Amino acid sequence: MKELLAPDAKSIGRAAQALREGRLVVFPTETVYGLGANALDPHAVARIFAAKQRPADNPLIVHVPDAESARRLARAWPEAAEKLARAFWPGPLTLVLPRAPGIPDITTGGLDTVALRVPSHGVARLLLQTANVPVAAPSANRSGRPSPTRAHDALGDLGEAVDVYLDGGPTDAGLESTVVALVDAEPTILRMGALSRERIEQVVGPVRIATHADATPARAPGMKYRHYAPRARVHVETPGQARAFATALRAAGKRVLEVVPTERALAGADVRSPGRADDPEAWGRAIFAILRDADAAGYDDVVVEAIPEAGVGAAVMDRLRRAAEQV
Ligand code: TXA
Ligand code: MG
Repeated sequence: MKELLAPDAKSIGRAAQALREGRLVVFPTETVYGLGANALDPHAVARIFAAKQRPADNPLIVHVPDAESARRLARAWPEAAEKLARAFWPGPLTLVLPRAPGIPDITTGGLDTVALRVPSHGVARLLLQTANVPVAAPSANRSGRPSPTRAHDALGDLGEAVDVYLDGGPTDAGLESTVVALVDAEPTILRMGALSRERIEQVVGPVRIATHADATPARAPGMKYRHYAPRARVHVETPGQARAFATALRAAGKRVLEVVPTERALAGADVRSPGRADDPEAWGRAIFAILRDADAAGYDDVVVEAIPEAGVGAAVMDRLRRAAEQV
């Protein structure tokens, strides 16, 4: 049985060695846990797809220790890339750029672009510096499940397929990085995430949000897959409807967990409250863990009260709608 290792110098060294030898490592980032492999080794990257049961046309994010390393993996570096990298790296931003030669097809799903990210988490940074190879790392969940915000979530999903699990405690943001494509005239957000649209627009001006029309394999390959779903059925309801909906499900014999803002939470065993409705960061930190815990506790249904879509609230609601298959 695999163990979770405290991320001290010794275990980070062991993990870096595993990466260089083509094996898999689970490591914490400031967003969610990642499942890493050497991005330049096609056999190692193939192990990621196998371990996650991930469709081969869904490309991976390549993690590097600094912007200079990222730049070397891109064929073009537009002004918007420079501005965004300066403003938000290291941090929860992924940039999609034309890819440089040398990155294997399997890493980018055969696309002519590559997704690049410089994480800010101390353990991720030290691991990337020590391994000294670019690290392809999707979220460390089995494909389709909620992303892991705790090391044991990743262990439960991936088990023996992974060589080293580094346990850095619960992740900070709890939502994945924001993915921004810089391949057209206008920057396009392909995936909402821990960095809000508003903060990005302060740096590069108006950005486009990818729509279903972008959900083609060549542009936003990740959009078409089911995501973030626990076994329990998830329902997203408006503040006025959530309570009545949960009550009706209970009357029909279901075990129901309600997820509501603190200011409207009634005390009770079947209620979880990540934070106030105007604190989307708190919701981001907690929401994937709540969905996973709901499965562990055997709930049939999770009824979530919607929060406003301002700032990180947009990413929280995106994840919840996908978990509920409402998109
Ligand atoms: O916060 C994060 O981004 C985490 C941590 C571990 O860094 N990683 C993560 O990776 O969420 P993953 O594989 O779960 O999600 C990556 C997303 C997918 O939607 C994928 O389709 C998209 O990024 N993506 C990757 N490369 C792309 C590319 N070249 N063009 C368009 N989308 C790309
Ligand atoms: Mg993922």
